[in-house]
Amino acid sequence: MKVSNSEFIGIGSQLILPIFESTGKAPNNSLLGLSKSQRNLVKEALSSSEFDAKKGKKMTVWTPKCNIILVGMGNKKNLTSELARNTGARIIATMSKRKGCDITVRFTKGWSSERMIDFAEGMMLRAYEFLEHQEVPEDHISTPWEVNYQASNRHQQGLSEGLEKTNSIVSGVHLARDLGNEPANVLYPMEYARRALEWAEGKNNVEVEVYGWQRLQELGMGGLINVGKGSERKPCMVLFTLNPEADKGIQRPCIVGKGITFDTGGITLKSGKGMWDMKYDMCGAAAVFGLMEALQSTGYDRRVNGIACLAENMPGSGAYRPGDVFETYSGKTVEVFSTDAEGRNVLSDGLWKAGEFNPEYIIDLATLTGAIVVALGNQISGMWSNDEELAKKMEKAATRCGEPVWRMPLNEQFRKYMTNSAFADIRNGSIGGGAGSSNAAAAFLEFFVPNRDFEKDSDKIPWIHLDIAGTAWGPGAKARSEGENPLFQYGTSGVHVRTLYRMITEE
Ligand code: BES
Ligand code: MN
Ligand code: ZN
Repeated sequence: MKVSNSEFIGIGSQLILPIFESTGKAPNNSLLGLSKSQRNLVKEALSSSEFDAKKGKKMTVWTPKCNIILVGMGNKKNLTSELARNTGARIIATMSKRKGCDITVRFTKGWSSERMIDFAEGMMLRAYEFLEHQEVPEDHISTPWEVNYQASNRHQQGLSEGLEKTNSIVSGVHLARDLGNEPANVLYPMEYARRALEWAEGKNNVEVEVYGWQRLQELGMGGLINVGKGSERKPCMVLFTLNPEADKGIQRPCIVGKGITFDTGGITLKSGKGMWDMKYDMCGAAAVFGLMEALQSTGYDRRVNGIACLAENMPGSGAYRPGDVFETYSGKTVEVFSTDAEGRNVLSDGLWKAGEFNPEYIIDLATLTGAIVVALGNQISGMWSNDEELAKKMEKAATRCGEPVWRMPLNEQFRKYMTNSAFADIRNGSIGGGAGSSNAAAAFLEFFVPNRDFEKDSDKIPWIHLDIAGTAWGPGAKARSEGENPLFQYGTSGVHVRTLYRMITEE
């Protein structure tokens, strides 16, 4: 989407007029520059009982040369960021490019710059399609939307800065979606790595390093090796550093993502029913990449580290098996209870590696458990944390972005469930079976969060685990059906790129 802003000058082929309830007439400036007959049509529509500007209501007024869309925003007092964002998304979803790709949005009395940006963000987020691998219908218009946001003079500076920044952040969300939507035959571990290296090319403030198959052996990254060794497409770890020269000697965040490019379950094979959407099992790693793009493209100048743990979980004669015991990068050993609990295995290496950056905090994102979908559904991610302050910060950023999280328990019971293996330091499955298995998975991860400086007696590094198995893609992932979330139409959501951006940049 191309965006610009101006005062109330000029009108595109389509005009969006967000209107508050009980206005009854056209707000000041909303009809500037329209012909007399156009103005009359809008005025009549507004004074009729056909359009009451209640939230969710919409009316299209066709006029010569301009398709005018009246958008009900409800009561001015109740305009939340969420309502503004979702309304922007819903409107762009219903618009046709056939009526013209150049849109004008006019924000009149009652709009703050912040809410305007939220509305625009919704439009930007929703303006996404993934047509890489299909013949595009002849009448498909691939020209991007060109949106001019109009408001009074005092909003111009805020709009210019906010729109540009938001558009860049959304480019990160869209990149994360692209990676997630790619099928597993196209996007396998080393292809992710190739794309990361390509992305870094020509950018002088980013560093991307790839630990390939050979290097994983040298380093003893047993989590990645064991999960990935059953596939011809070998595992790897991708390390991103944004602004490596900045913040010398200062602790900065490190974000770690689960990147299973396809999860068959391995020898503990999933049933066919539970398998189709396992191409999305790398959405944690996609969010890490998308976040890097968001930070880099907005010109963020502080250091941030990202780690993607990539592997394809396949059965085969070379695959790891239930009962196997392997050593992770940390030196701690894992007894394999289920080869399908592979995410935590690869993350064990990623979390330990994160400790080497001496980070301020570690956040991991993973499509980790089916149980979190049962517990929290498709609109809330599970959150576990060993740090109150950090958890509060996350909650706030996530809520503001419309990507809510819900705190879940880390406790002795779940730790015990995982660590009572007779054969290794920890087992990747719980004696509790499915009971609270998202919590058991979190307890497993916690085991691999390093103490500060890897000292036995120091505290664990502040850490958050986000289980995004329910939120990384919608219930409509199997079709073009739309779920509850208007910010995306099908496939992956790109969830938490915006949350992490906000959390990291707004201290
Ligand atoms: N990738 C899956 C989790 C998942 C399942 C995400 C369904 C989204 C939808 C993960 O690797 C997995 O298989 N987890 C197992 C863990 C179990 C074996 C302890 C699960 O949730 O069943
Ligand atoms: Mn699995
Ligand atoms: Zn998985």
